Amino acid sequence: MSVVAVISSPRKGANGDTVVNAMAEAARSNGKDVNVVYLNPMKDRRGCQGCNQCKTKGRCVVNDDLLPVLDAIREAESVILSAPVYFGCPCAQYRLLEDRFYSFLNADFSSNVAAGKKLAVVTTCGTAGAEELADKIEGTMAKLFGFKPVGKLAVGGSNPPDAAANDAELMAKAREIGSKL
Ligand SMILES: Cc1cc2nc3c(=O)[nH]c(=O)nc-3n(C[C@H](O)[C@H](O)[C@H](O)COP(=O)(O)O)c2cc1C
Repeated sequence: MSVVAVISSPRKGANGDTVVNAMAEAARSNGKDVNVVYLNPMKDRRGCQGCNQCKTKGRCVVNDDLLPVLDAIREAESVILSAPVYFGCPCAQYRLLEDRFYSFLNADFSSNVAAGKKLAVVTTCGTAGAEELADKIEGTMAKLFGFKPVGKLAVGGSNPPDAAANDAELMAKAREIGSKL
């Protein structure tokens, strides 16, 4: 009954971190075992190398700090994915992990992870792009890997690190989504 919560923002304690941890706490209150993963402090991480060994081995062969994250997601019942918008895209910390999701695809592009994992998505931005990014992440995970979305939060106006924490309605929504994981 495990939940993996991925935090991509380098700003510890800021908006993405706050919202994801509110979801995580709600999941814990429901008896789930939650593993919160911070991508930014990882020192040894690479993007997908395009080696295609995953297509015969069924698992990524790049043995770095992201490999246990991929394995934890593979085993999890539920996943929270979060990313801030940087220059109109997800931040680089998230993109490195996202490309490694290629290892969840077989040679025929069918998924090699169990379908039906519950998914919550959290995105943040200063002015624009969080909604589009949340839709994109949710759509990718649902379409390619059969994840089942239970909710997403796109947080705008989040340059101040405490914007989310000061938004009671948003935090209540985060807890509500977390309770579905
Ligand atoms: C390198 C960089 C690029 C950014 N690019 C955008 C952008 O294109 N659009 C936008 O609305 N906000 C942009 N921002 C603002 C961040 O999205 C916003 O402060 C952040 O998402 C808040 O997330 P966090 O509080 O979880 O760190 C950028 C911030 C940084 C540091």
